[in-house]
Amino acid sequence: MSRDSIVVQSMSDWDKVVSALSAKLRGKNLFLLEGNLGAGKTTLVGLIAKKLNIPMVASPTFSLISQHKNLIHVDLYRLESMEEIDATGFWEIFEDEDSMVFVEWSSKISDDLWPLDWDITKITINKISETEREVLIETVA
Ligand SMILES: Nc1ncnc2c1ncn2[C@@H]1O[C@H](COP(=O)(O)OP(=O)(O)OP(=O)(O)O)[C@@H](O)[C@H]1O
Ligand SMILES: [Mg+2]
Repeated sequence: MSRDSIVVQSMSDWDKVVSALSAKLRGKNLFLLEGNLGAGKTTLVGLIAKKLNIPMVASPTFSLISQHKNLIHVDLYRLESMEEIDATGFWEIFEDEDSMVFVEWSSKISDDLWPLDWDITKITINKISETEREVLIETVA
């Protein structure tokens, strides 16, 4: 398991993180995004989409899952139960091996439920100050 820690000192400094992830920005990669409210999870997904030239058009209705080309963005913050996630068709996401999947608040789902045959990277963002973040990148599988 590889582990990498990157200090992000400003918004433009996220380039370092995006570069560090670049080899994984392809299908069959799952990213588990952890960090408090306002840590920068959505910011990172937006920067990755930008790097890949994928427009992230906001979904008109609230949903746990939004798809932008082959980038699937999932936010489990409001998830209340496993029944709810099962009912959304969430697990079918992993049938498309061209997709890369980013899951905010991923710890709401038990570690042993993630697809075993996908590459899984956990990204933990810690807020150091209003503008600085410490980003831990761990290869899980
Ligand atoms: N270096 C930085 N990196 C990321 N965000 C920053 C940074 N400096 C300031 N910010 C601000 O912090 C906020 C991060 O919000 P963001 O929505 O990305 O967090 P989040 O982790 O997705 O939160 P939530 O759990 O609520 O979804 C934004 O308002 C952003 O402008
Ligand atoms: Mg968010």
